[in-house]
Amino acid sequence: MSAIFDHIAALHGKRNWGSVLDAGTGINSLRWLRGRKADSLTAVTGAELMVRRIEEALGPSPANERIVTGNWADPDFLRNETFDVVLADYLIGAMDGFAPYFQDEMIERLRLACAGRLYLVGLEPYVLDKPASAEGEIVFRIGRLRDTFLLLSGQKTYREFPLTWVTRHLERAGFKTIDIRKFPIRYRARFVNAQLDMCINRLHLVPDDLRTALADHVEELRRQALRLEAKNEGLRLGFDYVVAAEPA
Ligand SMILES: C[S@@+](CC[C@H](N)C(=O)[O-])C[C@H]1O[C@@H](n2cnc3c(N)ncnc32)[C@H](O)[C@@H]1O
Repeated sequence: MSAIFDHIAALHGKRNWGSVLDAGTGINSLRWLRGRKADSLTAVTGAELMVRRIEEALGPSPANERIVTGNWADPDFLRNETFDVVLADYLIGAMDGFAPYFQDEMIERLRLACAGRLYLVGLEPYVLDKPASAEGEIVFRIGRLRDTFLLLSGQKTYREFPLTWVTRHLERAGFKTIDIRKFPIRYRARFVNAQLDMCINRLHLVPDDLRTALADHVEELRRQALRLEAKNEGLRLGFDYVVAAEPA
């Protein structure tokens, strides 16, 4: 995580931060942005719960910061406001929960909001094609099983977008790409347990007759994944990406 923020700090160099928008805020991005020398900081979330989590983890906002709850799909939300620096940190992949099918429009909203520099962080989707390696395949199976539980419980799955989609839409929206960097991912035991615990926590929401078989399946996958994770010192698959862009 910090390798990504370190990279953005290095890309930004000695430029001023000025007014900053954290377009999809959370504990990590806001903690990091509080450490920049911004004149003002606007942090946006779609969820009141996120505001409470941030306050619990980071304490109250300093004088130059406001945390705003709203939905980017609302055309009046932060209308006509522009920022010197816009950070979209895992925003696009989280949007299906708040504004499904709005991801392309979101890139246009980012263009309207950005007067200087955009840093967009995303995760390349890893649940589409079955990977060739054993460690990749086990992460793929975990992701697919997690999505199965979400769907069976009547909830939405994550929907990450590929780097190629993002750069194409940035260009269409009137950005020029300044820099692209990929960060290969090594999933650790914490990821395995967090994803599979998400499944177990939803067991009561899946149909009764599937519960026992699914619970056994989760624990067998956990056993296999943790064994491989320990043997290979992590499970390598896919990458996060950072795109730096400016209005063309
Ligand atoms: C995965 S979190 C971002 C992670 C965060 N940057 C961190 O440091 O942990 C996604 C954020 O984007 C927000 N979000 C997603 N879609 C949104 C929308 N349509 N309007 C406003 N906020 C949205 C979510 O509420 C959440 O605050």
